[in-house]
Amino acid sequence: MLKQTRLGNSGRQVTAIGLGAMPLSLTDRPNEHDAICVIRAFIEHGGNFIDTANVYCRDDREVGHNERLINKALKDLHDKHRIIIATKGGLRRPRGGWEVDANPHWLRLSCEQSLKDLGQDSIFLYQLHAPDPEVPLTDSVGELSRLRQEGKIRHVGLSNVTVEEIETAMNVVPITSVQNRCNILQRKPFTNGVVEFCHQNEISFIAHSPVGGHFDHGKLASNRILNRLGNAHQATSYQVALAWLLACGDHILPIPGASKITSITSSMNAMNIELAKNELEVLNRL
Ligand SMILES: NC(=O)c1ccc[n+]([C@@H]2O[C@H](COP(=O)([O-])OP(=O)(O)OC[C@H]3O[C@@H](n4cnc5c(N)ncnc54)[C@H](OP(=O)(O)O)[C@@H]3O)[C@@H](O)[C@H]2O)c1
Repeated sequence: MLKQTRLGNSGRQVTAIGLGAMPLSLTDRPNEHDAICVIRAFIEHGGNFIDTANVYCRDDREVGHNERLINKALKDLHDKHRIIIATKGGLRRPRGGWEVDANPHWLRLSCEQSLKDLGQDSIFLYQLHAPDPEVPLTDSVGELSRLRQEGKIRHVGLSNVTVEEIETAMNVVPITSVQNRCNILQRKPFTNGVVEFCHQNEISFIAHSPVGGHFDHGKLASNRILNRLGNAHQATSYQVALAWLLACGDHILPIPGASKITSITSSMNAMNIELAKNELEVLNRL
């Protein structure tokens, strides 16, 4: 049985490592057949939590690409109901750029389109992709609360937020998860209190870019200390970095991205690595 974690206050358990599906839809994505094989490999290995967003695509002409891909990958699976999909709204992709738009009207349109693209009646976890400096956070989250009351979404998550923003949102609607950039080389959520706040408040902390990010993961691959500890466990530096995140808290849910089957199956094996106390001390100082 793979290591499980409780998904915030949702009452559901998910595998302690999820799949970040973004690389399957950006410019350098694999072809559709190979992308579906990556999602299926994750599920065949026992994974059941997939992170996506309406804007995981090349530009705003194909918004929903990643969600439609996941829908296709799950279509004929007999046990697809055990898979939890977490999607997001609140960005746009004009000319391939990334722009925040957490206007309530756009959030509603995005959510309703995501329901169609995912082929679901209700989205289990809907995350605000990022707060919008032009829109009061209470207005954005207020719309998510209404979507929840209408049954279009079951649980609300936030992304790219501070402790203060989580507190503001919690006054409007219960928050199940917070998703921020977090990996062994970029530890801001530990130093700014977000990881601890989530722990105190029964909120899952979803670590995005957990092996360094779409463009920067090479830094992990070439890290001397990670490689040395990896050798001791017959593991890669990526696996050590993921095992370290898991060891930092039971509520931490890393979602490594993958465009290759080997990347996600290797990441999942990180759930079997137990780092010793002295190894954790070395990694904490890295
Ligand atoms: N909320 C947000 O604002 C936000 C922002 C960024 C990302 N995210 C989410 O977080 C997920 C992860 O972030 P990310 O994809 O940017 O970066 P990442 O997880 O740090 O991974 C980047 C790349 O590292 C490679 N990799 C991952 N695990 C590996 C392993 N065990 N062994 C070898 N290579 C491995 C993969 O390469 P290959 O492609 O070659 O397989 C992957 O595409 C995204 O997919 C997305 O769902 C959210």
